[in-house]
Amino acid sequence: MTTPPDAATSANQGAAPVCNVALLGFGTVGSSVAKILCERSNTHLSLSHVLNRNVARKKVDWLPSSVQWTENIDDVLSSNADIVVEVMGGLQPAEDWIRRALQSGKSVVTANKQLIARCGPELTSLARQRKQQIEFGASVAGGVPVISGLHQGLAGDELFKICGILNGTCNYILSQIELNNVPFATALREAQKLGFAEADPTEDIEGLDARAKLAILARVGLHCNVRVEDILARSIAAIDAVDFEYANQLGCTIRQISWAELKPESKPDLLLAAVQPALVELSSPLARVEGSKNLVVATGTYGGETVFGGHGAGGHPTAVAVVSDILAIARSKQAAITDLGQPSEKTPTVTADFTTRHYLRFLVKDRPGIIASLATILSDCGINIDAVVQKPGCPKSHLPFLITLEECPAALVDQALRQINALDFLVQPCLHLPIL
Ligand SMILES: NC(=O)c1ccc[n+]([C@@H]2O[C@H](COP(=O)([O-])OP(=O)(O)OC[C@H]3O[C@@H](n4cnc5c(N)ncnc54)[C@H](OP(=O)(O)O)[C@@H]3O)[C@@H](O)[C@H]2O)c1
Repeated sequence: MTTPPDAATSANQGAAPVCNVALLGFGTVGSSVAKILCERSNTHLSLSHVLNRNVARKKVDWLPSSVQWTENIDDVLSSNADIVVEVMGGLQPAEDWIRRALQSGKSVVTANKQLIARCGPELTSLARQRKQQIEFGASVAGGVPVISGLHQGLAGDELFKICGILNGTCNYILSQIELNNVPFATALREAQKLGFAEADPTEDIEGLDARAKLAILARVGLHCNVRVEDILARSIAAIDAVDFEYANQLGCTIRQISWAELKPESKPDLLLAAVQPALVELSSPLARVEGSKNLVVATGTYGGETVFGGHGAGGHPTAVAVVSDILAIARSKQAAITDLGQPSEKTPTVTADFTTRHYLRFLVKDRPGIIASLATILSDCGINIDAVVQKPGCPKSHLPFLITLEECPAALVDQALRQINALDFLVQPCLHLPIL
């Protein structure tokens, strides 16, 4: 940290030292961070470097001329920057550069969920060794201060469950299918046109983005060391407009839900964790999350439910989270690190075997005896049917209908579906969603 040149004068005695910030990446989030740092004059933060590949095309005239533009990480590492902000994304070179920044005595702020989900514990322990800090508040739910909320605001509770909507793209697509009664492919195309979905939407649609965020929340909030790959991620691509009609008849809607819950008193520790489309009651806060927003509900033994909600993405909201992390580090170089390494004393077995009610939606070529064949398989597996619902007036060659099941373990339903999906009257595999 640098003392301002005039701080020695009596009027400025006690002024906070200036904290120099270097930005790695000048894209959506990086340029918003730069804007906030330049426009907010009372932060004692000074942007010293902007690094980007092929940097000439990135230069803008609204940054002070004192900012050094560079393509070379060594310019940043050998400089007087106090905090390095990584907003490039990707695993490499982001990981190497963060390590090198910590080793050079600089603290780090990153918005990189995939990196923190995979290497968070090692990076926080490296930061601790080097007496630096690493903060990653923007890596989950963009501008929603859920990481600091779990780490600081709810530190006094013993949290056992975190669930929520962590991917705005999926929430937007599902909301559009519901509102406009359009097929999945149409809603996806529209989301891509409006910039809510990437050209390659796989990470979002298949639940991979949300499960990286869930792994981070499980570490910070539940103190569970979880490997990202151990969390089940299921696609939303099979959801159709008809599923919302059926869900509505059950008093529910469909959302991509990320869920991590410690099972009480299980030995060894057991963590139920999955990212999947699920039915949620219309009255639940999860059902009311609009468009691309995010919502996280944390449940603790003493404080009950706490809800965090807001913009889960976008340059400015995410940049607010980044700048808040920068300020937290600048305010107290001694503050405790948001810890991903040490208090994660549990290394639970991760399972997606939720015991809930279930929604099975079939698309069949109609003929007599279909319900009887399905009922036989379900009953042989020890599963009770709750209801059978069929919309009138659908074509016999593509007949959608719904079976809901009474509460039973998901593994039992998967076992029944292995037999059911081999039946020749099915036009496509059965869509199976938990009813939460
Ligand atoms: N956007 C959001 O709403 C949001 C929300 C939460 C978290 N995040 C996270 O924030 C990070 C940044 O996201 P973003 O949306 O700002 O991405 P972006 O718009 O693609 O910006 C990334 C910037 O980093 C530069 N860059 C990438 N790799 C580089 C490398 N190897 N060397 C030098 N420069 C490199 C890119 O340069 P080019 O121009 O050459 O590509 C680009 O300018 C990601 O980790 C993302 O997951 C984003």
